[in-house]
Amino acid sequence: MKIVAIVLLLTSLALSSDSPVQIHTSIGQLPGLITFTWSTRNTTPTTYVRIASGSSWNYYQGTTRSFKDSSNIWVIHSATAQLTPGSNLQYQVGCQVNGFSSTLNFIVPSDQASINLLVFGDLSTADDGADTWTDMNDNAKDFLIQGMIHVGDIAYDLSSKSSTVGDNYMATVQPLAHYFPYMVCAGNHETSDNYYNYLQRFDMPNTKFYYTFTIGYIRFLAIHTEAFISETDMLPSMMAYIKTVLNRSDSDKASYPWLIVFGHRPMYCSSIAKADACGPEANTIKQYLEALFKQYNVDIYINGHVHNYQRTAPVYQGIATSSSTNYYINAKSTLYVTTGGSGSDGSNSKIDWTDAPNWLIAGEEDFSFSVLKAYNKTHLYWEQLKTKNNHITDAFWLVK
Ligand SMILES: *[C@@H]1O[C@H](CO)[C@@H](O)[C@H](O)[C@H]1NC(C)=O
Ligand SMILES: *[C@@H]1O[C@H](CO)[C@@H](O)[C@H](O)[C@H]1NC(C)=O
Repeated sequence: MKIVAIVLLLTSLALSSDSPVQIHTSIGQLPGLITFTWSTRNTTPTTYVRIASGSSWNYYQGTTRSFKDSSNIWVIHSATAQLTPGSNLQYQVGCQVNGFSSTLNFIVPSDQASINLLVFGDLSTADDGADTWTDMNDNAKDFLIQGMIHVGDIAYDLSSKSSTVGDNYMATVQPLAHYFPYMVCAGNHETSDNYYNYLQRFDMPNTKFYYTFTIGYIRFLAIHTEAFISETDMLPSMMAYIKTVLNRSDSDKASYPWLIVFGHRPMYCSSIAKADACGPEANTIKQYLEALFKQYNVDIYINGHVHNYQRTAPVYQGIATSSSTNYYINAKSTLYVTTGGSGSDGSNSKIDWTDAPNWLIAGEEDFSFSVLKAYNKTHLYWEQLKTKNNHITDAFWLVK
């Protein structure tokens, strides 16, 4: 008995010194293709995610990469498994020699079934951002959330203070991000060292900057909006990719009738503090994308960058194509949502209502985050919740 106890104690000591931390997950380019990502301080003899199967484990071997920022050094591990959409499972990440993490739960997002997602941009873990994380943690199980989307500007910044801000951020997101996929795109706060933190810490599909995936009844396309503003070298290849994804086959449309694009910077918004972002910069992005969005029936474009919530009617070339305020049947053009008010590195900015044209329907300057619900192939619902009281400040339906 005594010997067993000592062995257990040694095992737990070994684990506590360098056990896997910052555990998060992402979805790949096929339904149920899930990547598990985590960090250790030192290299480990092996790298695996193991998934409970009855009374034993199924092992999936991973790969490692190093992460170095002056004194801050990690080994980042990732392992991918093809899992059954809609299932709820238990897993551990780690190494047979150095030990595994404790047992964690994971929801494999449903395919061809109702789905609820958390959506937000411009989020830190400081001050009001911390309140948003508390609210999202409290609500995730009640809302039956199966994934979350962060439309750029992560942690303020992942690279700050020798990337220790990034470490704290990744630890704060673990309670949700270990449990369902956390999909991100890069904003202007990720540019440091050529996106080193963004590219090392996350495992997004394709180039990591632009990619597509499906969840429930939705096809998502993530885009890299810095390419329109300052990184124009990337534009030709990204535009070719965007056109290929938007030009969908009939069977893709039948399975995933909802087509949603997200990126960091806005195309439609109204703001005094970010007049350039909502003016000339938004116009530049529109020149590349607005006609394509109409041609290929993009339902919603989601962005952050402006630190508040703003939501349009379906709009095309500056003219609302519906007179409804919150119920859109067979919308004729794309609806635009700015959800950048969840808690960045300061207070939120004002919406410029004096300049607000007919397409701007709703706004919220207090801290808030979004819940997107695709019930089925005909009904999609968006809800904007105020941080700290969960009051619904805006809601709309898209109906086909
Ligand atoms: C869209 O895809 C179809 C095949 O599915 C192809 O024939 C057509 O040329 C494509 N259009 C564009 C603009 O790429
Ligand atoms: C789709 O979901 C909406 C909202 O829950 C519901 O009213 C509608 O009946 C559903 N349609 C089908 C075909 O299940």
